Amino acid sequence: MELLDGKRIADEIKAEIAAEVEAIKHKGGKIPHLVAILVGHDGASETYVGHKEKACAQVGFKSQVLRFEDSITEAQLLDEIRKLNNDPDVDGFIVQMPLPKHIDEQKVIEAIDPKKDVDGFHPVNVGRMNIGLPAYISATPDGIVELLRRYKIPTEGKHCVVIGRSNIVGRPIANLLSQKSYPGDCTVTICHSRTPNIKEYTLQADILIVALGKAEFVTADMVKPGAVVVDVGITRVDAPGTKLGWKLLGDVKFDEVAPKCSYITPVPGGVGPLTIVSLLKNTLKAAKKEVY
Ligand code: GUN
Repeated sequence: MELLDGKRIADEIKAEIAAEVEAIKHKGGKIPHLVAILVGHDGASETYVGHKEKACAQVGFKSQVLRFEDSITEAQLLDEIRKLNNDPDVDGFIVQMPLPKHIDEQKVIEAIDPKKDVDGFHPVNVGRMNIGLPAYISATPDGIVELLRRYKIPTEGKHCVVIGRSNIVGRPIANLLSQKSYPGDCTVTICHSRTPNIKEYTLQADILIVALGKAEFVTADMVKPGAVVVDVGITRVDAPGTKLGWKLLGDVKFDEVAPKCSYITPVPGGVGPLTIVSLLKNTLKAAKKEVY
């Protein structure tokens, strides 16, 4: 069994991006510029945006956080988005989710210029990705693809079973891995909360991708010997007696599943570290005008 070390791969890709930024600086080119809009004071959102800022600094990007109070109206937020769409210095921007209840998140996503949508959430990017056109691919599916690619995991003709049908993980990764590409050329099955007897499917998986958000859902009896297991889940649970008083659990019961696998992602340290790298990759592509 080999661990799919997302932290190591993330550091490797960050070093590659930093080298590119150095080269751009050397030639007097434009330094990639990412902006994050943060509405309100949600703890998790503050943490994510903080990580994004830090990652930008590590690779030499220009970055900025625009903070607004929960009381901002939808119209005011849409106006801020219009300004960023029209600002030639901003290569890409994100609006950190979730947003307050009085703001329609889908309307916000659709207000972002697809050319600057480095989260890859706009329907234009989702649609382009779905038909294999150049697009900004959202962070988690892109992170999974990077892990499979960097570990040179064979995918052609393999049966990939995805548990979870969300718009930001399950559906896009199922789509990408069924495309004529590497990693790809898989036969893909999507399972979800209404699938009866999920084990019947997971036992057939050469590659099992778990993204349903239920801690330790996948147990050893559900996994085929030699499978590649990618765990996207992160659930925070109380852990009395530990330094922090809590710990993170994946959707896979790691200790019992790991010995059966050829490869498996740890949680934390698997897919997670690659999600921020994906945002950096997309911002660099935006600055280089590689997608549009
Ligand atoms: N909230 C949780 N994850 C994300 C993300 O990847 N992008 C944005 N914009 N909001 C999030």
